[in-house]
Amino acid sequence: MRVTMIGAGYVGLVSAACFADFGHEVSCIDKDAHRVAALNRSEVPIFEPGLSELVENNVRQGRLEFAVEATGIDRTDTVFIAVGTPSRRGDGYADLSFVYQAVREIAPLLAPGTVVVTKSTVPVGTGDEIERILREKRPGVDLQTVSNPEFLREGAAIQDFKHPDRIVVGTDDARARAVLAEIYRPLYLNAAPIMYVSRRTAELIKYASNAFLATKITFINEIADLCELVGADVQDIALGMGLDNRIGGKFLHAGPGFGGSCFPKDMAALIKTAHDHGTQLRVVETVAAVNEQRKRAMARKVAAALGGSVRGKIIAVLGLTFKPNTDDTRDSPAFPLIMALQDLGAAVRSYDPAGMEQAKPALPSVTYCTSSYAAAEGADAVVIVTEWEQFRALDFDRLRSVMAQPVIVDLRNVYRPDEMLRANFRYVSVGRA
Ligand code: UGA
Repeated sequence: MRVTMIGAGYVGLVSAACFADFGHEVSCIDKDAHRVAALNRSEVPIFEPGLSELVENNVRQGRLEFAVEATGIDRTDTVFIAVGTPSRRGDGYADLSFVYQAVREIAPLLAPGTVVVTKSTVPVGTGDEIERILREKRPGVDLQTVSNPEFLREGAAIQDFKHPDRIVVGTDDARARAVLAEIYRPLYLNAAPIMYVSRRTAELIKYASNAFLATKITFINEIADLCELVGADVQDIALGMGLDNRIGGKFLHAGPGFGGSCFPKDMAALIKTAHDHGTQLRVVETVAAVNEQRKRAMARKVAAALGGSVRGKIIAVLGLTFKPNTDDTRDSPAFPLIMALQDLGAAVRSYDPAGMEQAKPALPSVTYCTSSYAAAEGADAVVIVTEWEQFRALDFDRLRSVMAQPVIVDLRNVYRPDEMLRANFRYVSVGRA
């Protein structure tokens, strides 16, 4: 199959590389000429395990190419739209201008029968508007519009793309369904279920899934707070709840609050969609508000670990990305935490294996260090914010020897309280005595 991917950002790049790896002929279009030139040299601009190798192999084997102009799009079977849909300033609604702009640009070039697919996360009804634009630009021409949301996680994107829990295809058109079935055939040969639904339903499945996952996290975070007050252990509670198949054990890891480029943005967009339709998603609204408060509240936890105040103290923050195995710092819980610590009078040193360059513009007064131990130099407390693998095996003796006080605030529960006690650290974690 011939596939054109519009957008070489996170979703576009991963999807394009994986489709090429399935054996399809993929052309990935992006307006950023530098990015395109780098990608044609197999230089991948984002940090995602396995992606460089996948791009390199498929470019070398001639199945994947990158271009600025959509030449050849008139011969393609499908066009996937994977451009950004950032939160619009002011009202939190998904900014769809890049999506509509892309559709306007490609519309005159498409051959009859081409299937246009949205992979970007787009609010309910976006497919209807795309269809309207296509009709307006190409009256009487058979061009189908399909929603095919993506469920991949940063840091595990290729695994998620190649082993999805489900593939959602939103269209009522039988031929468009057949085209999508052919594109995903390698996956459902491996037993990935493909579900066909209406386009609006597919658009909403994506938002409902992200909102539900965010709700699960926020729920366990609040239970963690209660655990600290009553002397219970949130990890055992998550395990005890998760063994109930109706609940499931995933996304019950308590922490400093969820972040990233998806959950906060998608929840804002979902809340706005509900308002536009004259209703309210009160659970989702509460989750978003509770999570925002939580991120900054983590600074109070650090202060409490130091006897109530961080004024004049040096705090070493380990981890700036919103989760490990990515260089993405968007909406990372580390940022409000660091800002709150600085507001409370602390000096912050930090180390992150991949996210320091991204953090510098927003957090200019942090001292950026070359390792965990360099960050801990002279620190009154080390705060683990992101559960990078290398923070899971810190050399406690070395750490203690460079710190001013042996205090660890572990916001990801990567260590056990008993081992930290043995290592002679004052240890504070989330939802555990
Ligand atoms: C999320 C979804 O998991 C993907 O299915 C979806 O495709 C993606 O958004 C998207 O919409 O594009 P992602 O943002 O990459 O993926 O990261 P997650 O692994 O979901 O983590 C999100 C945040 O929740 C992180 O800050 C993470 O630390 C936090 N989290 C996650 C917890 O605090 N506890 C958990 O148990 C799980």
